[in-house]
Amino acid sequence: MSDYTFTIPELRVPEEFSIWIDKDSSDQQKQIQQFLGNTIYNQNQSDFAVELAHHDYIKLIREWANDTFNIPIANAFHVRTAPNKNGIWHCEGPTLSSRRMAFNFLVKGEPGNTGSQWGIYPEWATTRSPLDESAERYGQIKEENQSKVEVMGEHTNNTMYECFAYNTTILHRSINENSSTERVLLSLTIPEKFSMALVQKMYNEGNLIK
Ligand SMILES: [Fe+2]
Repeated sequence: MSDYTFTIPELRVPEEFSIWIDKDSSDQQKQIQQFLGNTIYNQNQSDFAVELAHHDYIKLIREWANDTFNIPIANAFHVRTAPNKNGIWHCEGPTLSSRRMAFNFLVKGEPGNTGSQWGIYPEWATTRSPLDESAERYGQIKEENQSKVEVMGEHTNNTMYECFAYNTTILHRSINENSSTERVLLSLTIPEKFSMALVQKMYNEGNLIK
């Protein structure tokens, strides 16, 4: 268990929920565009994309999630990273989309060869703490500064569909440079008041899962 992420091995998203991943729906496209109007992500950024999941899928996943967790699930996103690429360093945090952590699941990708990193941007961080949250105040790292982020932690996904709690208050990115398969995470948004520390505590005390 770390401050960046921890897995919940006993919790897997039902495999059949993957049916929506490759769905090419015009409804979905419209929804995505509406959503992206308010996000930090660049619609033309083809190597890394965050999409609101299909509305039918969101209904199913919310029902499942609310039957599963003792924390309400607000929304479901697909976070895509192209084959042989890494995602962009970013931090959504409370300033940008009102979440401090997410429940993520690898729903497409190559287990053992795909994962995530967390890091700090030295020009923003006032300390060298691996838990530095300065990115939340400053926003997105410009493209030309992406390479200046220092990696503080890394996690590899070894199991498909397994739940892993994910700290989004610290700069993070997807790592998929060694895999020839697209990486897709299902990412569940929970209310801002649930910090990583609080969720870890709930899990350790047996209160996270119904
Ligand atoms: Fe993120």
